[in-house]
Amino acid sequence: MANLRITLAGLDLDNPIMLASGILDSTPGILQRMAETGAGALITKSISLKPRPGYPGPTTVEIAPGTWINAMGLPNPGLEEFLNEFPLTTLSVPVIPNLVADTPDEFAKLAAGVAAAGAKIAEINLSCPHPKAAYGGSLTAQDPEAAAAVVAATTKHLPVIAKLTPNVADIGTVAVACARAGAAAISAINTLAALDVDPELERPLLGNGFGGLSGVAIRPIGLRKVLEIVQALNHANFDTPVIGMGGISSAEDVVRYLLCGAHSVQIGTSLTGDPEHMSAITRGLAEWMDRKGYRELADFRGRILEWFS
Ligand SMILES: Cc1cc2nc3c(=O)[nH]c(=O)nc-3n(C[C@H](O)[C@H](O)[C@H](O)COP(=O)(O)O)c2cc1C
Repeated sequence: MANLRITLAGLDLDNPIMLASGILDSTPGILQRMAETGAGALITKSISLKPRPGYPGPTTVEIAPGTWINAMGLPNPGLEEFLNEFPLTTLSVPVIPNLVADTPDEFAKLAAGVAAAGAKIAEINLSCPHPKAAYGGSLTAQDPEAAAAVVAATTKHLPVIAKLTPNVADIGTVAVACARAGAAAISAINTLAALDVDPELERPLLGNGFGGLSGVAIRPIGLRKVLEIVQALNHANFDTPVIGMGGISSAEDVVRYLLCGAHSVQIGTSLTGDPEHMSAITRGLAEWMDRKGYRELADFRGRILEWFS
């Protein structure tokens, strides 16, 4: 029988399949329901120090089957309210808070807050505005030094998963900078910078104008970025685990990421139609391993890398 258990940055998980941030995690009730689907861990939506109202609608549009464009504006109740409302330590699976801020200092305050509330690890959303950007477009995870500064500021309080943006020329350099700064794991990818247009209304589809692409169309991009991260970490002699995501909608998609060297995965967009699909994907992974004669995830992790050496 396949053994799906993994230890990730000191955390024991029943299986390597997690709920991605921002999808099916907007209330404690939905999080509870996702815990019952057998996810290995649940990532919360991004939490900021102060409440954020989010952008005007439309905030999410399915632009092709299974592919979404969204600009939610990271709506959340702020750290204090979040800690009052959301269970960090009482669900049957680990809950991993996802943090977002504008500066390393603010990130450190968030990390200290969730650590004091019992979180064992946090994911830091580095697709946030670069603190020194004089204009709106630049993200922290587009600058290896800025990303490393956030990792260094937060790891003083608890281990962190650095979540990277695919909107860079060389994601491997950013991943290595985060690993060097002490990241317990790297997760990728966040959404791809995108724009879609309503020809009838002659305006952008989303209330915010620009948005991010997620779901099935981005899977090959996610796979390539994860492979590049794994290659870069290996080359720099870091054994930092990688959490792959982007467009996963089946057990075969999970396998694809694991073959590219990911230790675990997260799933977002594809669960929106049917949260119970999480259980089917987990079962499917075990069945695939049984059929292939693999007992441990490590037996096939990174198999694709030899094609690129
Ligand atoms: C509606 C929506 C909201 C999201 N909110 C967040 C968020 O709050 N924080 C974050 O780090 N990522 C957020 N993401 C990105 C996802 O966690 C994930 O990185 C991305 O969607 C790729 O995975 P998927 O194709 O399985 O959805 C959001 C994605 C979507 C579609």
